Amino acid sequence: MQANKEELPTWLVTGGAGFIGSNFVLAQRAAGAARIINLDKLTYAGNLLNLESLRNDPDHVFVHGDIGDPALVADLLKRHRPQAVVNFAAESHVDRSIHGPQVFIQTNVVGAFHLLEECQRYWESLNPEAREKFRFLHISTDEVYGSLGPNDPPFSESAPYAPNSPYAASKAASDHLVRAYHHTYGLPTLITNCSNNYGPLQFPEKLIPLMILNALQGKPLPLYGDGKHIRDWLYVTDHCEALTMVLNRGRVGQTYNIGGGFELSNLDMVSAICAVLDKLRPPSPPFVHASLITFVKDRPGHDRRYGLDTAKIAGEIGWRPRETVKSGLEATVRWYLDHPEWVESVQTGAYQRWLQLHYGPAG
Ligand code: NAD
Ligand code: TYD
Repeated sequence: MQANKEELPTWLVTGGAGFIGSNFVLAQRAAGAARIINLDKLTYAGNLLNLESLRNDPDHVFVHGDIGDPALVADLLKRHRPQAVVNFAAESHVDRSIHGPQVFIQTNVVGAFHLLEECQRYWESLNPEAREKFRFLHISTDEVYGSLGPNDPPFSESAPYAPNSPYAASKAASDHLVRAYHHTYGLPTLITNCSNNYGPLQFPEKLIPLMILNALQGKPLPLYGDGKHIRDWLYVTDHCEALTMVLNRGRVGQTYNIGGGFELSNLDMVSAICAVLDKLRPPSPPFVHASLITFVKDRPGHDRRYGLDTAKIAGEIGWRPRETVKSGLEATVRWYLDHPEWVESVQTGAYQRWLQLHYGPAG
């Protein structure tokens, strides 16, 4: 249902030009649910093309800037008076965190700290009614819990933190800061820890879009180690719906796991992508895309298995994912096939340099 225009709340969304953030912003604007102030640094992962359909939308304001810039954040809060801050902004790729962890600490820890400081100051300046309504939603990851054994139950919200990569450690640090700002200063926070997302607008350094685009170009499909590492896959629109529900109904100070409920080995996932491509884009002369699968050197410290127990969000908030891996994967492959101009725009020199650095000359 569209909100009454006069009552439209304002939300400050950070990282809203990235993969999940832009899907979230597009969904909110399509539903007419909120006026969005979108603060994004436009790193290699941020892309204004993702937001092209909002170009003439007066209720979407894009601001190019850093969550770690206190003066900018304070000014945005003062001018736009948001009812919620939704923090997606982060460095998000594990492999990049292994090549260069510093920027992960800078944005994910120091940047999150500055954002919290300014939100805290703003929140304290509000009248009691506005203070009561305000929410700070922090988007985090299942990687903070570490790795599961083959027979372990999936992680619940009370699993101990055991991050294994610089990326996961930086996200864990920001989760702890968010928790502390609630516990110590009373800031009305919510934390969500989600599993691996996939869907439209994902930058092709991550497994699923990388494999789709490599397969279409007849390039090797590089699986790390034995390919038996397991991830729990969540379709991005399901994730965005869960975040909206947590914002509206989540209990302040709480953490909610958001998982797709589909645990798959990387080899099974890539084989499934190949089967969808064989059907939707049969190569000529004919070959099966799965013949491109290549096993390469493993990622250092590679977590073996992630899986999330989502009983809390299902029971308290009533969220369940709508997509299966089959429906979500087919929709994702179709989206990449249908958007060659977007694909071309992200395969820039910087992207090619990343492939060379990480996968070598054949990448
Ligand atoms: P992404 O890398 O696609 O996008 C991140 C966005 O943040 C980009 O637009 C980038 O320009 C922006 N950004 C980076 N540093 C910034 C800064 N200092 N100030 C302002 N903006 C900045 O990431 P994503 O996949 O959309 O992930 C969004 C959030 O969800 C992240 O916090 C990530 O840790 C978390 N998460 C993602 C996944 C996943 O599977 N993609 C899984 C679990 C958690
Ligand atoms: P990724 O999309 O980087 O997400 P994360 O590491 O945050 O889970 O990787 C998903 C899985 O796919 C992970 O087990 C690593 C593996 N992977 C490969 O095997 N080859 C690749 O080229 C990439 C990018 C990932």
